[in-house]
Amino acid sequence: MGKTIGIFDSGVGGLTVLSSIVNEISESVDYHYVADRLHAPYGSKSIEELLDRSRKITEFLITKGAALIVVACNTATTQVISVLREEFSIPFVGIEPAVKPAAQLSISRRIGVIATANTLKSSLFNQTLKTHASTCKTYVRVGEGLVEAIETGELDSKELNELVSNHIDYFNSKEIDVLVLGCTHYSFVSRIFEKYLNKGVSMVSPNEAVARRVNTVLEHLKGESSSVTSISIYSTSEELLSLSKLISSANLQADQLLHVQI
Ligand code: DGL
Repeated sequence: MGKTIGIFDSGVGGLTVLSSIVNEISESVDYHYVADRLHAPYGSKSIEELLDRSRKITEFLITKGAALIVVACNTATTQVISVLREEFSIPFVGIEPAVKPAAQLSISRRIGVIATANTLKSSLFNQTLKTHASTCKTYVRVGEGLVEAIETGELDSKELNELVSNHIDYFNSKEIDVLVLGCTHYSFVSRIFEKYLNKGVSMVSPNEAVARRVNTVLEHLKGESSSVTSISIYSTSEELLSLSKLISSANLQADQLLHVQI
């Protein structure tokens, strides 16, 4: 078996991370991605529920040969990745809101973070704010409704535009100059964010940094590269039509798209 990477998220959000990883890594890899759509959203779940889902998905990905797991979800990373690292002997790479780059980029020293409720209340996120953004005024907001709307696959809908515009109004009123996209789902609608944000406001997401980290960890994994790159995508929900639309929107081509019960 060649090198295999397991990736998961509550749904389609992590596909934006998978896309960055596939672009970054030049060697052939077998990617196995789980979209836990039956249990989405993760943003308001208890730690016990998140841990239960993350453990089960990790075990499933290990049965597929994963020697490295990417937790492509800010919510699961900030809440449970430390426990996963204690319980499993393989490496985990997570994703967290890009607060440090945002603070480095901000000239006005006013930054915004949009993420899920769980991410914003996590001690990891609040510690990161203290460590890297103490010289900035930070405005945080839960991206209420966005994950559910993005999961439908209707990325150009009037409803989604209205929802984004409403969230962005808040940040525009705070006169931020950098907005952190703190949930992997939001990269799907970064163009809509851009449309409503005040001119000159930058957006940051950590996807590229995560992809570079995955590449580094992968180089240290034992084993041969796969003969060709393959991408298998599994969904815990039976509805695969919107998923296949969003796979294309993330510029990915899946070799397999399957419903699984995990
Ligand atoms: N995409 C996820 C994140 O980055 C989870 C969103 C959710 O399920 O609430 O936080």
